[in-house]
Amino acid sequence: MDPDRILERDEEIDQYAAALRPVVEGSMPDNIMVYGNTAVTRYMIDMMHEACENSGNVLSTVFLNCNEMTAFKVVRTLVNEFRDKNKDEFPARGLSTRDALDALYEEIDNREGTCILVLDEIDHIENIDSLLYDLSRSHSTGNLEHATVGIIGISNDYTFRDILSSKTRGTFAEEELDFTPYTANELEAILRDRAEIAFNDGAITEAAINLCAAIAAQDSGNARQGLDILHAAGKEADKKNDEQVTEVHIRTGKRNVERGNIERRINSLTVQQQHILYTLALLEADGQTPARTKEIYSLYTSVCEQSGLAPLSTTRSVREHLDKLSMQGFADQILRNKGRDGGKYHVYECSMRADIVLEIDLRE
Ligand SMILES: Nc1ncnc2c1ncn2[C@@H]1O[C@H](COP(=O)(O)OP(=O)(O)O)[C@@H](O)[C@H]1O
Ligand SMILES: [Mg+2]
Repeated sequence: MDPDRILERDEEIDQYAAALRPVVEGSMPDNIMVYGNTAVTRYMIDMMHEACENSGNVLSTVFLNCNEMTAFKVVRTLVNEFRDKNKDEFPARGLSTRDALDALYEEIDNREGTCILVLDEIDHIENIDSLLYDLSRSHSTGNLEHATVGIIGISNDYTFRDILSSKTRGTFAEEELDFTPYTANELEAILRDRAEIAFNDGAITEAAINLCAAIAAQDSGNARQGLDILHAAGKEADKKNDEQVTEVHIRTGKRNVERGNIERRINSLTVQQQHILYTLALLEADGQTPARTKEIYSLYTSVCEQSGLAPLSTTRSVREHLDKLSMQGFADQILRNKGRDGGKYHVYECSMRADIVLEIDLRE
């Protein structure tokens, strides 16, 4: 069985294939924005290469996950992907994004034929706006003469289009493919298929697969979450020496996946932020949220004392961290009005599961 095969997406695949027809025919490719799924795009890239082998069009593709990349890093990586391996790499320092773009156009033009740049998590690129503007004008500005370039952007953020300037929206003029979240039934089919590869016959109950599918459908609607939980449930059953993966393991697996995700995110915080978040979780678990900065600050100082960290000396600096944590989705900030002349102030609560936050070791 092929683990890369795509189930339950026949219509989307047809729609996608139609959008890619110019690539196969060797005419000017459309830019495409895909909302919601990476797996289908990977599959389509393979299909596209097969189709181009038949049609005789020369096709080069690069797939790049752009998470936490600057525009410069994206372009530099693309240059190096296209560049002959015996040529020097494009330098990491000393040159500008403009220089990198010029080098990219040169590499692409040398290829002749069609180049498709697949930018996964495109919404995570800093300065994405000017980068897309430049890339989508590369034909009209004469930067490309022998080759054509098309961009496939992938994002889970449906508001991505809104952050682009109208100038860029006008030139990028992409074809949009919206992949709706998977339903529980679709996820069941996908998970059952994977379980058949991953587990021995009878090693997982039908009820466990259905529960896993239901959890993922209700939450994210993506296959990744379901597969992660399935995998974690298998590990849990192994650990317990249980012969069959059941709903109990799925529930524990779900919690372990959540814990892992939260842990990873908390690890990206500074020590001070971790202590402030921990304080917020303590208050939350004690039913004392939403809380004001003053209340948070006083508990925070004793949390610091316990772990031997010198506390920040003003409530103001703690408030600034709370605002940052709210912006990054660790906390929620709520505006309160104190009545006629009392003024306005903020209260905060923890937006992650407090019991899991409290289980995580604070950094030294
Ligand atoms: N329709 C599908 N049929 C089979 N497997 C799928 C399908 N959609 C996703 N998957 C599998 O789920 C995993 C995650 O999918 P992906 O699209 O990469 O999600 P994300 O980009 O959200 O991480 C991959 O291993 C992929 O093969
Ligand atoms: Mg993805």
